[in-house]
Amino acid sequence: MGIDPVSGGTVRATSDQFFAKNDEKFDCVFIDGLHEYHQVKKDILNSLQFLNDGGIILLHDCLPNNYYEQATPRCQWIWNGDVWKAIVECRNLKDIDVYTCYADFGIGVIFKRPNKNLLDYKLPNYKNISFKFYYENYKKLMNIIEYDELLNII
Ligand SMILES: C[S@@+](CC[C@H](N)C(=O)[O-])C[C@H]1O[C@@H](n2cnc3c(N)ncnc32)[C@H](O)[C@@H]1O
Repeated sequence: MGIDPVSGGTVRATSDQFFAKNDEKFDCVFIDGLHEYHQVKKDILNSLQFLNDGGIILLHDCLPNNYYEQATPRCQWIWNGDVWKAIVECRNLKDIDVYTCYADFGIGVIFKRPNKNLLDYKLPNYKNISFKFYYENYKKLMNIIEYDELLNII
């Protein structure tokens, strides 16, 4: 099933419109829609509600290389958005296990199981984390793993 309000996919709707009516459960959800923190966070929380036990959520564009690749609103062609902020927030939740795989533009990986490497970095609003802080601490914040490790933890 592919959800997109503009092109491709099989359901012409935003992810919010889709989840408002959905009653199916999924083994795997790939989030690659609106790459802005608030929407990505909603997409993650909605996906968790409809994820089967043992399921996995993958997210595209979690590792921007520079400030402009993640600035919102978008200001250039190569753009990951601030998906990374939603990952940092999720890393603080004890009931989900969150990683970022060094593949493509950074693939976020979320399992519905106890967090094995809880990040202790609580903020009132993760939208406000600075890119400088991410740049200096991204390995810890994002819980980076190599592709081979991902295959071992699935
Ligand atoms: C980077 S593209 C990725 C599309 C697809 N995953 C692919 O690889 O071909 C992002 C897509 O998200 C769609 N999109 C934007 N806002 C969305 C939303 N709120 N819900 C679902 N999809 C959205 C856009 O229309 C666009 O097609």
